[in-house]
Amino acid sequence: MSTLDQSFVKNSSWKPDLFKGKVVFVTGGAGTICRVQTEALVLLGANAAILGRNAEKTKKAAAEIQALRPGSTVLGLGNIDVRDVNALVGAAKETVDKLGRIDFVIAGAAGNFLSDFNHLSSNAFKSVISIDLLGSYNTVKATFEQLRKNKGAILFVSATLHYYGVPFQSHVGAAKAGIDALSNALAVELGPLGIRSNCIAPGMIDGTEGMARLTPPGSEPLERKVPLQRLGKTRDIAEATVYLFSPAAEYVSGTIQVVDGAAWHIGGLMGSMYPGAVIKQGNDTPKL
Ligand SMILES: NC(=O)c1ccc[n+]([C@@H]2O[C@H](COP(=O)([O-])OP(=O)(O)OC[C@H]3O[C@@H](n4cnc5c(N)ncnc54)[C@H](OP(=O)(O)O)[C@@H]3O)[C@@H](O)[C@H]2O)c1
Repeated sequence: MSTLDQSFVKNSSWKPDLFKGKVVFVTGGAGTICRVQTEALVLLGANAAILGRNAEKTKKAAAEIQALRPGSTVLGLGNIDVRDVNALVGAAKETVDKLGRIDFVIAGAAGNFLSDFNHLSSNAFKSVISIDLLGSYNTVKATFEQLRKNKGAILFVSATLHYYGVPFQSHVGAAKAGIDALSNALAVELGPLGIRSNCIAPGMIDGTEGMARLTPPGSEPLERKVPLQRLGKTRDIAEATVYLFSPAAEYVSGTIQVVDGAAWHIGGLMGSMYPGAVIKQGNDTPKL
């Protein structure tokens, strides 16, 4: 089910048809956060292609997003793994064949799970780096010709996990640090071609699987730790996405837009669980 509706156009800060004639290519677009980013762009006039491995889920989400704005087209491209650059090249070609162009790219597909270092296998680490970091690289590789032709914009979906040491997230933190570095390098390298590159770094977003895993039952509500005193909404990320793709951000490139209610400044959330929890995990039998 979609999160946004026509009231996003009528009652929001943005003008209708802001993205008329534009096409956005979104990996992970059937997922929780990137789906709502896509909804906002489509409601404001864009057409879209969303990509994922699960064909049924991706097609269903595309049909529901398309229903938000009469006249829009949203392609649901399933059986695409971002680790496979050729699959992404095929998806980019299908998007251009059916929608005519690609102006904006959101590299949002990611894998996440909690694991301490001692129980994280080398393969599991590699898998997260391959989906998050290599997958983001592949996404830009596959759409580069269109980005160059249309003087487009890239938005990587990062996180705040690597701004300080977050236990049980070494794999994701390392991948997202790489994504930030990739975005900065591309902003410099592709800027002279007219292409902008930015990252968005969501904080704790309510309703996502990641958040559900982070909140032990019966613990103090996490929003109490957020300076703005609430968890993030998927709409918060969508609003910042609209800004970063809009002409209002035409001089904004090489930045990391943190959307987290200032939460990362508070630091780790383990409280009294630290260091007991990490010592217990670290003393277990090592896993390769
Ligand atoms: N949740 C949070 O609070 C939070 C905080 C900070 C950053 N983020 C970042 O925000 C982004 C979205 O997070 P989310 O919580 O909305 O995740 P989500 O609901 O799990 O969605 C992730 C999407 O990525 C796709 N995907 C995963 N592996 C893929 C692969 N190998 N190839 C192609 N597609 C793949 C999945 O679709 P298929 O299963 O169909 O492939 C899914 O639709 C991620 O980059 C995440 O790291 C989230």
